[in-house]
Amino acid sequence: MKNKLSVVIAGGGSTYTPEIILMLLDNLDRLPLRKIKLYDNDEARQNKVAKACEILIKEKDPTIEYVATTDPEEAYTDVDFCLAHIRVGQLPMRELDEKIPLKYDCVGQETCGPGGIAYGMRSIGGVIENIDYMEKYSPHCWMLNYSNPASIVAEATRRLRPNSRVINICDMPIGMEHGIADIVGVPSRKDLDIRYYGLNHFGWYTSIKDKTGKELLPALIEHMKQYGFINGEEGMATENKDSWFETNLFAKHLVAVEPTTIPNTYLKYYLYPDYVVEHTDPSYTRANEVIDGRETEVFTACAEIEKNGHSKGTSLEIGIHAEFIVDLATALAFNTQERMLIIVENKGAIKNFPDDAMVEIPCIVGKDGYEPLAMGEIPTFQKGLMEQQVAVEKLVVEAWIDQSYQKLWQALTLSQTVPSATVAKQLLDDLMEANKQYWPELH
Ligand code: NAD
Ligand code: G6P
Ligand code: MN
Repeated sequence: MKNKLSVVIAGGGSTYTPEIILMLLDNLDRLPLRKIKLYDNDEARQNKVAKACEILIKEKDPTIEYVATTDPEEAYTDVDFCLAHIRVGQLPMRELDEKIPLKYDCVGQETCGPGGIAYGMRSIGGVIENIDYMEKYSPHCWMLNYSNPASIVAEATRRLRPNSRVINICDMPIGMEHGIADIVGVPSRKDLDIRYYGLNHFGWYTSIKDKTGKELLPALIEHMKQYGFINGEEGMATENKDSWFETNLFAKHLVAVEPTTIPNTYLKYYLYPDYVVEHTDPSYTRANEVIDGRETEVFTACAEIEKNGHSKGTSLEIGIHAEFIVDLATALAFNTQERMLIIVENKGAIKNFPDDAMVEIPCIVGKDGYEPLAMGEIPTFQKGLMEQQVAVEKLVVEAWIDQSYQKLWQALTLSQTVPSATVAKQLLDDLMEANKQYWPELH
């Protein structure tokens, strides 16, 4: 019999919480649970989903204890895993992260460019606060941290809490590998063995093999030259042409620049910032799509469950986003030795890249944590891009620690998405004003 585990979801009021709960409940055979807690520092927001989550849990397994709380001690006492996905400043600040850079004709994006830098300056404090609660109340607990911008947050955890049991993760590999599995015609992403290296939201697949060992990369690259990550004419026929559809299709232009690897779709913000700016509506960005779409749908569905007292007929669905958390928690708890893409300190895994960079690479995960696989040497093009971007991320974390205006100005100036130090300074002053409540004061 497997030990039953206790988990806390930090950022309980997130739109992703119900789909994570459904995924946890669907996987109790491999990750048995005795307790699920929600923790948020905004009670009203957490209450939008808390009651519905309780009903979902009771329907599936009434023996699982459940609590939703804003008290850190109650949240973090007796937990084995913290699934963290906080957003400091919530979606209204995401909207500003996206809209302020667009005023200066710069990429306006949640995790990339000036918006990602601004978000990073907000996130670091919130994530560190949660790590400290975890270590105080449940020192054996692992934090599986989705909180963005993951690269900057990962560098901050490396600098500020180097010995903490935190694993920084991103769901892009799941999304992209689901897409790749469809395109190459295998039933599941788990039928693929991959090699990948890069930074978070900034990397490349160098090998994608099926379980017979056959290399699928060249055929996939040919497909991507025409359709990007879209599954051929069938995929093109979809009704849902939201910004993610555009991003997945746009990947064909990334392959055009670097035709020997499969790119992370986020590279479009660094390789084609001019195109992205031209094709973004500065008055209606992704934050607006999310507020009008996912947030409204999830909160309406939760209100419905609460009102009915049951979940029959609900539109809430298990999210593939949460698949990664279940796999990772299962690997740590039950030593599955699964190969997973996570964000870790390089320490030689990419041979010609700094040891102290936080990189996204495949690792073998078991009960003692993770062991990175060696990725060897990388080519000049990728190395140059990554060196520039990793320097931006390190400067942001240094700016946060030293409360340094100068370093944050340098970070913005160095970003591939910002044309000059002049624009960087204007951006910095604007972002600093908008983030007064959240950033450390800069001198
Ligand atoms: P959201 O704003 O809907 O929810 C985040 C919640 O975090 C809010 O309820 C907020 O009150 C809470 N919060 C903020 N600061 C907190 C703190 N210090 N302690 C506890 N709770 C706090 O955001 P969302 O759109 O659902 O996204 C949640 C997070 O997950 C974001 O950081 C997002 O970028 C991230 N995310 C990451 C990945 C990935 O690949 N790594 C994928 C999806 C989402
Ligand atoms: C992917 C990325 C996340 C990012 C999310 C945004 O899942 O891996 O890091 O937060 O997309 O999605 P959204 O639907 O909120 O724009
Ligand atoms: Mn991500």
